[in-house]
Amino acid sequence: MSTQEAGPDATLMDTSGEVPTPPTEAVPKMMKAIVQDRYGLPDVLELRDVEVPVPTEDQLLIRVVAASLNIYDWHMITATPYLVRAVAGFAKPKNPIPGADVAGVVEKVGANITRFKVGDEVFGDIGFGAFARYAVAREKSLTHKPAGVTFEQAASVALAGITALQGLRDVGGLEAGQKVLVNGASGGVGTFAVQIAKALGAEVTAVCSTTKVDMVRSIGADKVIDYTKNDYVESERGFDLLFDNVGDRPWSVTSRVLSPGGINVTITGRKHAVMGPMREQLFRKVAAGFGKKRFAFFTAHVKPEDLKVLADFLETGAIVPVIGATYDLEHLPDALRYLGEGHALGKLVITV
Ligand SMILES: NC(=O)c1ccc[n+]([C@@H]2O[C@H](COP(=O)([O-])OP(=O)(O)OC[C@H]3O[C@@H](n4cnc5c(N)ncnc54)[C@H](OP(=O)(O)O)[C@@H]3O)[C@@H](O)[C@H]2O)c1
Repeated sequence: MSTQEAGPDATLMDTSGEVPTPPTEAVPKMMKAIVQDRYGLPDVLELRDVEVPVPTEDQLLIRVVAASLNIYDWHMITATPYLVRAVAGFAKPKNPIPGADVAGVVEKVGANITRFKVGDEVFGDIGFGAFARYAVAREKSLTHKPAGVTFEQAASVALAGITALQGLRDVGGLEAGQKVLVNGASGGVGTFAVQIAKALGAEVTAVCSTTKVDMVRSIGADKVIDYTKNDYVESERGFDLLFDNVGDRPWSVTSRVLSPGGINVTITGRKHAVMGPMREQLFRKVAAGFGKKRFAFFTAHVKPEDLKVLADFLETGAIVPVIGATYDLEHLPDALRYLGEGHALGKLVITV
């Protein structure tokens, strides 16, 4: 594992220009992959030799250069909450190779692929299969990687960046000049939320713990509240949008920071064993009722047009991924354990 100090200056951005494409190679029959035969803690993951997947007419084959971890992967690997099994398979995982966020090079294209060709550098969220040397994907899950952005940076963006973008722009209706509070600003989604809110012209107050205050300020937050010293609910009021990545407070408390007409967009909450955060969000929605202050819980959906927005943000430098640490495939279980503790810094990247 190698750990980087976080912040835009310490990321892998190659400011000298284009990132060199790794040389193409003949696609072998076998590859290294992280495989799980059953649900459980990260110890169920094994690095194994498996067959390289064959793309259908609607898929392309990517040679994976980097992937990244999301809490989504934790849910899929451990099958928590229980409802995950309805999607991922009841008795055991239908897709034994986990991993959603990916960046790599297109090696093969199916007959119906129109937007990509062999040799293109791409990134996106493919749902599963990213923790391997090769992965298949549908083209709507991917976009082109900008030339000056590293594969590690690109791999860190898709799910967390889309969540921040859709939460702020679509659900929150964020407009330039509005005041935004980002709670949980130092993790995967939070570091993108701070930067995207700034890119959309907002004034951003960010909440994180002591050791991450400087990093969060360095990515553009106008004000930072250290939650170990001050309660954000008591610190400032009048926010147009509370973007909450932590979801640990009831509506009766969080609503206090909002201006009349303001909205609390939440992406998580205390997790029920069967329903996950959904159960509590239902209670909050009812509590918010039809008052002037609004509450919304939402789940992000990967759309190619939003991946393109993120690619443009990357290209212009409006967002610079904060990569807290990089791991190789073999040490992916260590990365997952760290993520599961709930205090990861920025994004955890897997180099393949
Ligand atoms: N609905 C959706 O579509 C969607 C999509 C993606 C993620 N999510 C959910 O959103 C949550 C955040 O995801 P993520 O990828 O950003 O996770 P993450 O990378 O683990 O980051 C979580 C951050 O929360 C911070 N935190 C923990 N306790 C806090 C507190 N009391 N006050 C303020 N900050 C606190 C931690 O920072 P410190 O070290 O500073 O405490 C950590 O950096 C997860 O629960 C995930 O399941 C939902």
